[in-house]
Amino acid sequence: MLRKPEDRASEKGIEIHMANAPRPLVAGNWKMHALGEAGDALARGIVERWQAMGRQDVDVALCPPATLLGRVGRLLEGSGLLLGAQDCHWEAEGAHTGDISAPMLADAGCRVVILGHSERRQSHGETDEEVAAKTRAAHAAGLKAIVCVGESKAARDAGQTATVVETQLAASLPKGVSAANTAIAYEPIWAIGSGRTPDMDEIGAVHARIRTLLANAFGASEAFSVLYGGSVAPANAAEIMTLDEVNGVLVGGASLDAGAFCEIIESCG
Ligand code: PGA
Repeated sequence: MLRKPEDRASEKGIEIHMANAPRPLVAGNWKMHALGEAGDALARGIVERWQAMGRQDVDVALCPPATLLGRVGRLLEGSGLLLGAQDCHWEAEGAHTGDISAPMLADAGCRVVILGHSERRQSHGETDEEVAAKTRAAHAAGLKAIVCVGESKAARDAGQTATVVETQLAASLPKGVSAANTAIAYEPIWAIGSGRTPDMDEIGAVHARIRTLLANAFGASEAFSVLYGGSVAPANAAEIMTLDEVNGVLVGGASLDAGAFCEIIESCG
């Protein structure tokens, strides 16, 4: 039995009026996939289907690997689809071999950047403080940051989901966060690429807590895009999007298939 967001939030003494929610955001995280030709074909396939859909009520971002930003960006021109990146450095320039700064991403045509993804937190040891610094850098470059948080399987089993998510979020968001410059993605680590998702009530409960924290820290939590990510697919996207607190999805594997990704877009709204 699903509780309404108002009920979940009132447990925390916060009023949430989701009628003021922004339109949904669907972001495709290509991760470390696709060489040039394959990236072109994927972007073209998405653009064609997107144009045939004629949707004006959802924002969509494609986040290819950095090597494809230029060519995918050219294919997205005039389509209304947003170009995004998967990480940035916290400094604008400097001696950081292999890194890419937020102004460089903006210069390449990006409008959004995914930050603090669990794969970067785990395999690159990114800390909450670094994620906050990267988020600040993204804002300074005019990029919208999609800041990712989420618990491990062990934390979930130990009943620590809310604590982990709240601690990560509080430390990963710098001053100056607003609904215009930041979206949050709740991505349980154990759900990523596993084909498993939390049940709908769990997703709703975590999102309500995220909104409570946003309301306490930055006001007007309903204006924020709070996305769910982790094994989002055509078969579950519509149900996830029926949750009032969820207004978007961050899609990994299914974003590599133009048909599947566009089915997910269709199910929003
Ligand atoms: P997935 O990845 O959709 O393949 O689970 C989501 C993500 O890691 O952003």
